[in-house]
Amino acid sequence: MGLSRLFNAFSTDLGIDLGTCNTLIYIKGKGIVINEPSVVAVERGTKKVVAVGTEAKRMLSRTPGDIIAIRPLRDGVIADLETTEKLIRYFISRVIPRRWLVKPRMVIGVPSCITEVERRAVEECAYTAGAREVKVIDESLAAAIGAGVPIFEPAGHMVCDIGGGTTEISVISLGGMVVTKAIRLGGDEFDEAIIKHIRTVHNLIIGDQMAENVKITIGNASADKKIEKMEVKGTDAITGLPRRLEIDSVEVREALQEPINAVIEEIKRTLGQTPPELAADIVEHGIVMTGGGSLLKGFNKLIQKETGVPAFQAEDPLNCVALGAGMYFDYAKGMNNSRNIYSSLNS
Ligand SMILES: Nc1ncnc2c1ncn2[C@@H]1O[C@H](COP(=O)(O)OP(=O)(O)OP(=O)(O)O)[C@@H](O)[C@H]1O
Ligand SMILES: [Mg+2]
Repeated sequence: MGLSRLFNAFSTDLGIDLGTCNTLIYIKGKGIVINEPSVVAVERGTKKVVAVGTEAKRMLSRTPGDIIAIRPLRDGVIADLETTEKLIRYFISRVIPRRWLVKPRMVIGVPSCITEVERRAVEECAYTAGAREVKVIDESLAAAIGAGVPIFEPAGHMVCDIGGGTTEISVISLGGMVVTKAIRLGGDEFDEAIIKHIRTVHNLIIGDQMAENVKITIGNASADKKIEKMEVKGTDAITGLPRRLEIDSVEVREALQEPINAVIEEIKRTLGQTPPELAADIVEHGIVMTGGGSLLKGFNKLIQKETGVPAFQAEDPLNCVALGAGMYFDYAKGMNNSRNIYSSLNS
């Protein structure tokens, strides 16, 4: 047995979903071991880390003057590399005990729109944090594997991952991405659309977390017979005093129309660029939806109505990327094998 195969036999594989909203770590045989917001709280000036993850998210928009809570990956770009490194290192250090003799292999799913420099930086962080081998892959590919899509089949499959800051739509066949489209728009923009609507129509200013709560509780993408209502609290834009307001699901749907349409347009554009044979497969298999944004009520129904292609949700939409990343090395082995088969057929 070669040295690397011996290492592999004792090594652990980590799958990491470095999301703009949430960071997840999956360990083969253990499941999801980290699932926390991608937020870091640092001291202003010194940049010393005060809290990471869930604890840091609680501080978002409620921080005293000398502490700032940052979402370093917001919008799918690594806006703040130094803080991103701290975030990665902190989460990895929590799951890798020092006594591990054989360093783990890590596969990290990142938005496909990040730059080559950013990718290398992420890779570097993982090595510094104790990885033996690192692979940075597009989150769509990871999402497809995690959703159980048979990516090595010679057939077209479409995956639509709607995250917090990005939406990625990919057509996959024979283990590779045939068409990929990524837009810097996701659940965050849905929240912002709700904030804007409530401010414009009701003169009430609400916070990010209140808006997310509205979206998750009564948000919907397609008309529903049942009208749901909920109370929101915020600051009156004119008097500056705290105020309550009741809003309903019809109003929230109207507020969400713009970002929802942008996602649908992107799906249509991707379908338009898909080779006809693969498009025919997609009509048959349907569009697999992953990511937290796909949980918006009625989204798959609307996609189906607008594109004529059936759309359905993956079993575990929020965990697909981490799961798929964790399974990547095993899949890649399959990919190499299938390539070997082809090369022997060609020779
Ligand atoms: N039930 C729900 N209904 C609507 N939206 C939801 C629901 N649950 C979570 N979300 C939204 O999903 C988004 C987070 O999804 P996810 O964790 O997949 O993003 P991410 O992987 O961190 O981001 P990205 O893929 O853009 O890097 C947030 O905007 C959140 O508000
Ligand atoms: Mg994601």
